[in-house]
Amino acid sequence: MSTAIAPAPAGSTAVTPATVTGGLDVVVIETLAEYAETLDAVRQSGRTVGVVPTMGALHAGHRSLVERAAAECDVVAVSIFVNPTQFGEAADLANYPRTLESDLEVVSGAGAHLVFAPSVAEMYPEWPAATTTMVSVPALSRRWEGASRPGHFDGVATVVAKLLSTAGRCRAYFGEKDFQQLAVVRRLVRDLSLPAEVVGCETVRDFDGLALSSRNVRLSTEQRRAALVLSRALRAGAWSLSRGECDPSSVEAEMVRLVADQPEVELDYAAVVHADDLEPARSCSPARPLRLLIAGTVGPVRLIDNLGPHGAR
Ligand code: PAF
Repeated sequence: MSTAIAPAPAGSTAVTPATVTGGLDVVVIETLAEYAETLDAVRQSGRTVGVVPTMGALHAGHRSLVERAAAECDVVAVSIFVNPTQFGEAADLANYPRTLESDLEVVSGAGAHLVFAPSVAEMYPEWPAATTTMVSVPALSRRWEGASRPGHFDGVATVVAKLLSTAGRCRAYFGEKDFQQLAVVRRLVRDLSLPAEVVGCETVRDFDGLALSSRNVRLSTEQRRAALVLSRALRAGAWSLSRGECDPSSVEAEMVRLVADQPEVELDYAAVVHADDLEPARSCSPARPLRLLIAGTVGPVRLIDNLGPHGAR
């Protein structure tokens, strides 16, 4: 059978994948039971597991997560599931790009071995009726993206808890591009004692600084150019902080001013926060690292970005 799952050490349990995609060296699994069984078998054979949860529409940012997982783990599983519980508006969910075929090529080229691509009915048998059990991380979810997208992080936390508890012991790779999501995931893994080690990976940017996002394809050339003001404002803020500006509110004001010069971008927030709890920073102290967060709408697309205070991606 053609499969990219490395041969198990002698005497260990073999991995029996569900489907092998034509021509691609990646195995596609569609049920939770088979996902759990396959990854259990991988671990029983003495190999380590890396998982990369995604909603598909994969780009170079996702590719870098998969490549890192492949460099650090024996077997890499990428989940592709457009999670309905994290979308507020039906139109946003309907418009979310679904590109499974090209996604399989990306993950296969980046060194993944398995794709878990369940249906909505598999993940939420009651859908569209509300899911009875939801996971919530309120302290980290109410501000920033959570304020603009009520319920969003409950949907993220619920699906990530389900994906990671099914996957079992693993390293789990998430992008820093969604900085608040990463904080929510770290916290839920800790609070629910899930057997995952969360690995945050640097944001991948285009040549001109725009953070890669599945939503960027919906920007016109002109809107894409306007959107660059978001990463520019972050860099300006990070520069001020690194030069010793110790008043977060003046850094925020500087970012707001810069974005205001670009009428095509409607700013939602530009904030200097404590990187650990995402609460607004009132002063700078070396004991508590800061993070700059920004979000705005350009044409039909809401974009988010963030940066460390010394310009770390
Ligand atoms: O970042 C994403 O693509 C999603 O929010 C995630 C983490 C896969 C949960 O659906």
